[in-house]
Amino acid sequence: MELAGKRIVLGVTGGIAAYKAAELLRLLLKEGASVQVAMTEAATHFVTPVTFQALSGRPVFSDQWDSRVPNNMAHIDLSREADVLLVAPASADFLAKLAHGLADDLLSTLALARACPLLVAPAMNRQMWEHPATCRNIATLRGDGVDILGPGCGDQACGETGLGRMIEPEEILADMVAHFQPKRLAGKRVLLTAGPTFEAIDPVRGITNLSSGKMGYAIARAAREAGAQVTLVSGPVSLPCPQGVTRTAVTSALQMHAAVHHEVAASDVFIAVAAVADYRPAKPIGHKIKKGAQAAPPQIELLQNPDILAEVAALRDPPLCVGFAAESENLAEYAENKRRTKKIPLLVGNLIHDGFGGDDNTLILFDDEGQHPLPSAPKLELARQLVARIASLLEKRR
Ligand code: C5P
Repeated sequence: MELAGKRIVLGVTGGIAAYKAAELLRLLLKEGASVQVAMTEAATHFVTPVTFQALSGRPVFSDQWDSRVPNNMAHIDLSREADVLLVAPASADFLAKLAHGLADDLLSTLALARACPLLVAPAMNRQMWEHPATCRNIATLRGDGVDILGPGCGDQACGETGLGRMIEPEEILADMVAHFQPKRLAGKRVLLTAGPTFEAIDPVRGITNLSSGKMGYAIARAAREAGAQVTLVSGPVSLPCPQGVTRTAVTSALQMHAAVHHEVAASDVFIAVAAVADYRPAKPIGHKIKKGAQAAPPQIELLQNPDILAEVAALRDPPLCVGFAAESENLAEYAENKRRTKKIPLLVGNLIHDGFGGDDNTLILFDDEGQHPLPSAPKLELARQLVARIASLLEKRR
């Protein structure tokens, strides 16, 4: 449970996306958070407080003068104990109020009286989002340290398409989880490779491997959650890009090599998770090779691909380099060997049958201080532990 023990005040304002706040509430509760819902009067026209009350098991507040709150100080009491105030959906009107410090109903008063961080998920029509007044308000809120989640792009209730939709409840949940992670890599730039590469033989065939990209994507997410600016150079995988991460999609090892060299000078950390093909066909054929067109089966001449990690590690002023070794046996020996030959400070080893393609993995970290086993756990959990180790190595390098 990612939000165990966290106390969240969920503010719901008036907009059609209010119905999605019920699903968001359910997701937050499932992750172990305790959630107090506060609604604006307008929100109660879209979804009744009973829905949120039934889901959260707590009374829902919308009235500043609610006599159920002892001493009538609801605006202070509700947010005093909270770890975070999350407003989703946040209407254009509510954002305008926040930006100007208005406090004319319970939720806006709660926001003004709070001592905890404020996160808002805007939801409005495309034109309202693009209006100069809303742009000014968003800039003011950002300057005040408010975290703006989204908005997303797509179909709108008014029939238009564009930017302004509330991001999906699952995305807001991911942002909440990220919010509570320690910001160990704040201000750092992290470059990663992930997934397999595909080396074309002809337009439809190629050499590749079974890397799913899940471990690399989990590390990209964990680094982002830790406050880093993350660029992910990804081979062909069918995974969504983690929120807040910049992805460059590549196919072949040579493309991955070029993309890494384009970014590496600006990076503090380079993590090579990709399963890069060691060899590529020397002369990819421009048309589909036809069966039986030649007397003998075709021979494929191979060329060695550049070792991206070793090259980055050999740069004059390299970022902190982290490599991976997926082995089927003799893990410690092969991993230490790889760490020495590639001259990298940290190598992450795993046995292929422990992690390939699955959601869990078992890792061993090899560095100058020896071996550190990370027992079997979900890949995101291991990724967070790896990020903690990387942050402490960065700290030592200073
Ligand atoms: O040399 P080997 O493939 O066993 O080493 C694995 C590590 O090196 C991984 O971190 C992988 O991403 C990286 N690597 C690379 N470029 C290659 C081959 C491997 O960056 N051509």
